[in-house]
Amino acid sequence: MKALVLSGGAGTRLRPITHTSAKQLVPVANKPVLFYGLEAIAAAGIREVGIIVGDTAEEIRAAVGDGSRFGLEVTYLPQAAPLGLAHAVLIARDFLGEDDFAMYLGDNFVVGGITDLVREFRATRPDARILLTKVPDPRAFGVAELDLEGRVVRLEEKPAAPRSDLALVGVYLFSPAIHQAVRAISPSPRGELEITDALQWLIDHRRTVTSTIVSGYWKDTGNVADMLEVNRSVLELLPPSNEGTVDAATEIIGRVSIGAGATVRGSRIVGPVVIGAGSTVANSYIGPSTSIAEDCRITDSEIEYSIVLSGSSVHGVGRVEASLIGRNVEITPAPPIPAAHRLVLGDHSKVQISS
Ligand code: TTP
Repeated sequence: MKALVLSGGAGTRLRPITHTSAKQLVPVANKPVLFYGLEAIAAAGIREVGIIVGDTAEEIRAAVGDGSRFGLEVTYLPQAAPLGLAHAVLIARDFLGEDDFAMYLGDNFVVGGITDLVREFRATRPDARILLTKVPDPRAFGVAELDLEGRVVRLEEKPAAPRSDLALVGVYLFSPAIHQAVRAISPSPRGELEITDALQWLIDHRRTVTSTIVSGYWKDTGNVADMLEVNRSVLELLPPSNEGTVDAATEIIGRVSIGAGATVRGSRIVGPVVIGAGSTVANSYIGPSTSIAEDCRITDSEIEYSIVLSGSSVHGVGRVEASLIGRNVEITPAPPIPAAHRLVLGDHSKVQISS
């Protein structure tokens, strides 16, 4: 069995972060979201992994390398444009050969991994097995309709009138039957080869498509709100540790992990919080569910429920909440006169100013 990990795509919902870097490499608890997926694949006993890459190919290659550190053998599969999940399967044909495979969306997060799912697939060998989860508003997802025995009878991509509340989760298991399906379908109105259409093709051709309903935790980290929520849930499992320097004037409460060479002075840190190697926190409050990456400087500020990427500094700006701050960002107070906000923001930035 092989794995196909999708790490191309446009990432429009995470702009401007995705103008300069891959969304699959945004860290969750200071580890790229893609790495959790690769670890889950390795834990399921899969070794050969094809990674679909697009515009951010170089960055993904630099981060993952040959995969040996995950116990994997990685092959990179360039996709010229993000033409859909089924298009990714189409271009991976030679790599996948006649093997069964797990398809994993590189920006998705499945708590509990995929080991049981892979074991079940190997034991039952349907043509495809999909993961479903109940969502409050299925209109933004691929939606599945099941019969009384739990077999999948119909799939629709982002339906205006969903027939169920069961949304497709970003992990799929396929037999080689999927190759015929992805060759047979045509692009959807949005111009993509949809994996839901390929699955529907299998169903229409009397192939077995089974499903597992996951009650555990799954998130697509494609937007900021979900990213912050995944970060919160992963931080809750974080073992506390301190490889840095914390002065006597600092109060540490709950699960807090402080990386090598980090310095915390005169601050209050309320976990779960991770502070990356080489970062400095001084005269500040870092509140629950916050990840500060490596080489950041947080001084005279308060940050809660946020992710700060490496090399950024936040100085003297009061309270920051529910924020995703990119790499090498500087946030400082404006001079008192004139009383005005001074902003240098990249394309598609989003700023909410409280005043
Ligand atoms: P999506 O999040 O559905 O698409 P996207 O990356 O284009 O994001 P947005 O909607 O914000 O513009 O993709 C799911 C995963 O699959 C993600 O890791 C990107 C990857 N992907 C590919 O590798 N190739 C593709 O053709 C598509 C559509 C997605």
